[in-house]
Amino acid sequence: MGAGGSDPIREVARLLAERRNAVVLTGAGISVESGIPSFRGAQGMWAKYDPTEYATLHAFMQSPRKVWEMLSEMVSVCGGAAPNAAHKGLAALEETGVVRAVITQNVDGLHQAAGSRRVIEYHGNLDELICVYCWKRYPTRDRWTPGSVPQCDCGEILKPNVVLFGEPIPWLAQEQAEEEARSCGVLVVIGTSAQVSPACDIPRIAKELGAAVVEINPEPTLLTRTVADVHLAGPASEILALLLQSIRDEEH
Ligand code: OAD
Repeated sequence: MGAGGSDPIREVARLLAERRNAVVLTGAGISVESGIPSFRGAQGMWAKYDPTEYATLHAFMQSPRKVWEMLSEMVSVCGGAAPNAAHKGLAALEETGVVRAVITQNVDGLHQAAGSRRVIEYHGNLDELICVYCWKRYPTRDRWTPGSVPQCDCGEILKPNVVLFGEPIPWLAQEQAEEEARSCGVLVVIGTSAQVSPACDIPRIAKELGAAVVEINPEPTLLTRTVADVHLAGPASEILALLLQSIRDEEH
């Protein structure tokens, strides 16, 4: 398979329909059409909040109230968002056995809301808060209201159970993601700039073990000319709608 094929959508659809063991890696771009900003670029979160001041474990431990300014915005925006056609398209592909699992760097829960069942949350989820002193966990809705800084019963400030820079990936998620990458036939990478490690290693692991790597992103990324076998350039919802239609055509 090559990017120069006459109809890359049809080529990818055929591959997905034949192999029926695709794994999908998603990033912030898939949720942009749900109204959630991505991280990098002019409209991204990191243009507004310097990640060294707002997105590291060190920053949280030093100034949790300051870091909660950004976290509150994320919890509000993600809490009010609904899955878009791309999330729903992936759930439909899982339902028909074409997609086996979604590995997501996103913390918004929109894949599950769309109906995806096997979702590996590589960077955690905003739905849960954790105390970094006594490790007690709470559903976010039980402790957080807009503008508040949630507190643990022990008196310390709670952190969302998401991975900040300087924190390890939850070990089970990392194990499961690597196992999926090692054993899939196609890895579809959607809406990630692939700049953050170790998530950006997942496409390389899949490729090294023989999977075809398909990238869906309006822009080229670090993967485009190195790891991806094909780049489908466009918004995730649009490309997934074309793929779904083409897979249906293949199967009939
Ligand atoms: P980025 O903000 O780095 O990249 C978002 C990607 O989505 C870019 O490549 C865009 O071109 C693409 N994109 C934008 N709109 C799109 C659309 N409609 N359809 C498809 N793609 C679109 O976000 P991530 O790569 O997810 O981690 O960032 C990775 C990690 O960096 C995040 O999980 C977060 C952040 O720091 C932590 O906080 C640990």
